[in-house]
Amino acid sequence: MDNFEFYSPTRFVFGRGAEEKTGALVRKYGGTKALLHYGGGSVKANGVYDKVVASLEAAGVAYVPLGGVQPNPRSGLVREGIALCRREKIDFVLAVGGGSVIDSAKAIAFGTLYDGDFADFYFGKDVKRPTPVPAALPIGTVLTIAAAGSEGSGNSIITLEPDMLKRGATGDALRPAFSILNPEFTFTLPAYQTACGATDMFAHVVERYFTPTRDVAVSDELCEGLMRTIVAESRKVMSAPRDYAARANLMWAGSLAHNNVCGAGRAQDWASHGIEHELSALYGCAHGAGLAVVMPAWMDYVKDVDIPRFARFAAKVFGVPEGEPAAMAAEGIRHYRAWLRDLGMPLTFAELGAKKEDIPALVAKLGLNGNTVGTFKPLAEADVTRILESC
Ligand code: NZQ
Ligand code: ZN
Repeated sequence: MDNFEFYSPTRFVFGRGAEEKTGALVRKYGGTKALLHYGGGSVKANGVYDKVVASLEAAGVAYVPLGGVQPNPRSGLVREGIALCRREKIDFVLAVGGGSVIDSAKAIAFGTLYDGDFADFYFGKDVKRPTPVPAALPIGTVLTIAAAGSEGSGNSIITLEPDMLKRGATGDALRPAFSILNPEFTFTLPAYQTACGATDMFAHVVERYFTPTRDVAVSDELCEGLMRTIVAESRKVMSAPRDYAARANLMWAGSLAHNNVCGAGRAQDWASHGIEHELSALYGCAHGAGLAVVMPAWMDYVKDVDIPRFARFAAKVFGVPEGEPAAMAAEGIRHYRAWLRDLGMPLTFAELGAKKEDIPALVAKLGLNGNTVGTFKPLAEADVTRILESC
């Protein structure tokens, strides 16, 4: 196991009615006037917005609304939010929505305090060691989709206009002070978004599970338990969208998949995420859908690096019987694709609406400049090209 520091300060407030505590929590973390950030309107349609506003008003917290965050959030609205926060002397940023709203909120929270262009931290000179964001206004979230894990992560992913480069910033200052998780809020999700969310959280575990680091039994077992749970609970919610218990398990799994409890002390890969981000930036597809295409193809390409690990994945996550390791490895990947297919995810470039002729541009946008991406098998541009061609 590698040396590590684990820091996950977010207060998770979970369950039915948890949103009633929003106003008091904003106050607890020093907020008197909040930016109330939300997306394209789902929170207004399903009543979540009104519940949050009622809680803010009951606690005497003033608020300024800013809606309109698009999936795969863009820099333009972040800039608008930063100007608004400065003008209105906002001291807290509250995100009500999914990963896109939360990531936009995080960018606004630190951009408001930062003297230069917030995008500096997304372009970062060294992809492998990005400069952490120095400081941010306190952030709270009311989560409405179990997916990205941004409610407990120290990351924010923004699509930078006009070049549409999807890039990430990182830093402990981006970790939310609190996150409200009411599983009932996810009842109104379209099936496709539920499926994209399950795909994404599973991928967050995979990025950590396939590692060159040895002797990481604790996190190996945590990873396997989470992956099994995500597969089982996602199957339940797809057939019964208002199954509270399944929604609750899936929601908590999404947070644990990405608050790094599964990644402590081990090298992590993240090649599939890097490759996917260029797809969702270019085509506007859901992040989870892009991962469903890229990640199994990545597995096919890298599996020979460590066949026993892929055989273990097959056995522990999908119950593949013991046998010849290479055959087990292939069977595990087949089960993974079958699960994604059952969820209704695309598995090919064609199903995603991606085009083969865009592959050179997608690879160039990744900006490797002679470097590699990933740690399980470090990938050069030629490797990424081959993976995308196999999609
Ligand atoms: O915009 P609204 O109207 O709210 O609709 C959203 C959106 O269309 C809808 N939705 C959310 N909750 C709903 C709902 N519809 C009905 N009922 C509800 N309860 O779902 C759609 C997708 O929302 P979005 O926030 O985009 O989904 P997700 O949480 O998957 O976030 C995706 C973004 O997070 C980034 C992705 O790259 C992508 O940009 N990621 C962020 C990470 C992080 N910060 O740590 C890590 C991830 O790997 C990921 O890259
Ligand atoms: Zn993801």
